[in-house]
Amino acid sequence: MHILVLGAAGMVGRKLVERLVRDGRLGNSEISRLTLQDVVAPTKPEKAGYPVDVVAGDFAVPGFAEKLVAGRPDVIFHLAAIVSGEAELDFDKGYRINLDGTRMLFDAVRLVGDGYKPRLVFTSSIAVFGAPFPDAIGDEFFHTPLLSYGTQKAIGELLLADYTRRGFFEGVGIRLPTICIRPGLPNKAASGFFSNILREPLAGKEAVLPVSEDVRHWHATPRSAVGFLLHAATMDTAKIGPRRNLTMPGLSATVGEQIAALKRVAGETVAARIKRVPDPFIIGIVDGWPRNFEAKRARELGFTTEEHSFDDIIRIHIEDELGGNFVA
Ligand SMILES: NC(=O)c1ccc[n+]([C@@H]2O[C@H](COP(=O)([O-])OP(=O)(O)OC[C@H]3O[C@@H](n4cnc5c(N)ncnc54)[C@H](O)[C@@H]3O)[C@@H](O)[C@H]2O)c1
Repeated sequence: MHILVLGAAGMVGRKLVERLVRDGRLGNSEISRLTLQDVVAPTKPEKAGYPVDVVAGDFAVPGFAEKLVAGRPDVIFHLAAIVSGEAELDFDKGYRINLDGTRMLFDAVRLVGDGYKPRLVFTSSIAVFGAPFPDAIGDEFFHTPLLSYGTQKAIGELLLADYTRRGFFEGVGIRLPTICIRPGLPNKAASGFFSNILREPLAGKEAVLPVSEDVRHWHATPRSAVGFLLHAATMDTAKIGPRRNLTMPGLSATVGEQIAALKRVAGETVAARIKRVPDPFIIGIVDGWPRNFEAKRARELGFTTEEHSFDDIIRIHIEDELGGNFVA
């Protein structure tokens, strides 16, 4: 099986590639080739045991996607995107990459022809929904994105469903919750603080909380995100029907509950490293974001999370990223 990952140098991309290389297989199929693509060259895994091609470049440049799919990958993970904060600050860049690039990729797959019909997994976002919300957003809730990023993802979802209906590929769109705790350096996502206020204090550093503690949001760990991607790539798509885009399961928690979990798992001293500095730009963005979901369809279709509480989310980070230790 040949697998192509776009956005392979990103946070989720790196975790996915690590897991694919560790497993050596995807579902029942052995991996025979990996193609890893990103603007910055993704790190080539050392112990793959099969060819790994690393392609550095912008997938949204006309003609680029055609070359990527010329090797007819069986599964395509499309994770490449400009995240929410940056897409809001740079209108042209957001639309060029998140919308035009996605359409070019889908068309490149379509134009291979000759019976080519790969599985295509697209990472959408809960940013396709906008306030006002019911207590828990059901699977029938309509799209009303309040950000350019959410609009671009919503259009991507529609394209994915239509290209699938027309038989050009077998698409599955997964709306990821905000991935928490995001490892590494903060990125330009407006949601970054949900992770920063946990990750930085655990590393002995101060972190800024730009919103109030009653802000509620929908979260899942990087481990669960990889699990969702693998399931989307291997599940029986006959069961999905024409509604190809699914809200992934997650955990609904307020910032206050996050901080309480941090105190329970790591102690008061660690939690005291969070400084409250309100930021009107972030407050304005987060105000229209979803807080809680039912995610019933995804659960029925076999998508599961590894964590059952926010304490688990913090423990998983300590285990996976900090070798079991944090700065007390
Ligand atoms: N992390 C989250 O909380 C979250 C939540 C919902 C949806 N998502 C989606 O999941 C996917 C992965 O998210 P992530 O957290 O790993 O983001 P990330 O920013 O860490 O990774 C995205 C990657 O895409 C690459 N990229 C951007 N433009 C590109 C281009 N023109 N050509 C090639 N590569 C390009 C970037 O270099 C980056 O490595 C994205 O599509 C994102 O929108 C993430």
